[in-house]
Amino acid sequence: MTTTTAPSLACQKDEFRLDPGAHYLNCAYLGPIPRSVEEVGIEGIRRKRSPTPFPSEAFFTGCDRARERFGRLVAAPADRIAILPAASYGITTAARNVPLSAGQRIVLLGEQFPSNVYIWRRLADEHECELHTVARPGPPPSAALWNERLLEAITPDTAVVALPHTHWTDGTRIDLAAAGARARAVGAAFIIDGSQSIGAIPFDVGALQPDALITVGYKWLLGPYSTCLGYFGERFDDGVPLEETWIGREGSEDFQGLVDYTDVYRPGAARYDVGETSNFILIPMLIEALDRILAWRPARIRAYCADLLSGLTDELCDRGWPIEDDAWRSGHMLGARLPEGWDLGRLQDRLAADGVYASLRGDALRVSPNVYNQAEDIEALRDVLRSFSGG
Ligand SMILES: Cc1ncc(COP(=O)(O)O)c(C=O)c1O
Repeated sequence: MTTTTAPSLACQKDEFRLDPGAHYLNCAYLGPIPRSVEEVGIEGIRRKRSPTPFPSEAFFTGCDRARERFGRLVAAPADRIAILPAASYGITTAARNVPLSAGQRIVLLGEQFPSNVYIWRRLADEHECELHTVARPGPPPSAALWNERLLEAITPDTAVVALPHTHWTDGTRIDLAAAGARARAVGAAFIIDGSQSIGAIPFDVGALQPDALITVGYKWLLGPYSTCLGYFGERFDDGVPLEETWIGREGSEDFQGLVDYTDVYRPGAARYDVGETSNFILIPMLIEALDRILAWRPARIRAYCADLLSGLTDELCDRGWPIEDDAWRSGHMLGARLPEGWDLGRLQDRLAADGVYASLRGDALRVSPNVYNQAEDIEALRDVLRSFSGG
């Protein structure tokens, strides 16, 4: 059998307009938009100077392209993709459509991003469910045990398992194949926040079978803020959207017939679209960003980031910083617990003084590069860490 390996990705710095003095290692916070995405956004603003002509089809064509691109990225049919404004909106949409009864369990991981927590707290309260949060069992390396505990927590009375794909604080990998299989075995809804991974690592909806997968556009998709995409599986086919939009109704393409009101939604996930779905600035930007990601390919983006991070990871491990085992890191970002006694404020100041942008989350340093980074960016961070004495 012959196998073909895709050529590795070269640095794409020239496709971006990052500040030349900045070592930007913070994609997990805000992904910079490529030049072409910026240009498409400016074109979107200009287009509305004089909306002549502005055919009604334009309200649909951009959205359909965005659905098709995201569907291709996660191996899902385009009509199962909804256009959303935020992860909280997508997760709330799914959550509000999961039937819950008293005594059932909702399973989360410790320290998930709040957009995948607050709605569950509310629903647990409203329906007298048990919110079962599986805490990290200890400092890294602990992800193997953490994932084991997660599986044990998915009991027959579990109604929902709502997880990230990659933990936002430090890039810990969650074994979605195992958790999903367990969720399906007990009939629980399986809802995934892919905001810290989709775009930078491969995701296959057919293989992992989430009931919903929600991903913001502004981080690893390198798109604009206030955009988000969601896959909704069959479980949600008859659900109730958060808002009753006109454009999400069957026949909405016929602008002359809009007051022939109907209770029927457009097929697939379009019922969950945010109002004013067709945003003529943000949607073209999102499509352009998705086109860049599809061309670069998530597997190659991950390999590029993992390669950049490998020397730093080895060095911090050698210096005794607690870091998750290789097998349990998603590869595109690195989270390392800082040595005890380090003054985070001082470290933040030193990083800023040297133009190094990375996040301090709790007691962890989170380094999240992307295809615009080069070895010299990681070197600048290493220099700060080497010269910083801690207290
Ligand atoms: C895992 C994760 N989900 C979602 C978000 C953003 O959520 P929202 O779109 O609701 O603001 C973030 C932001 O840091 C995140 O890390």
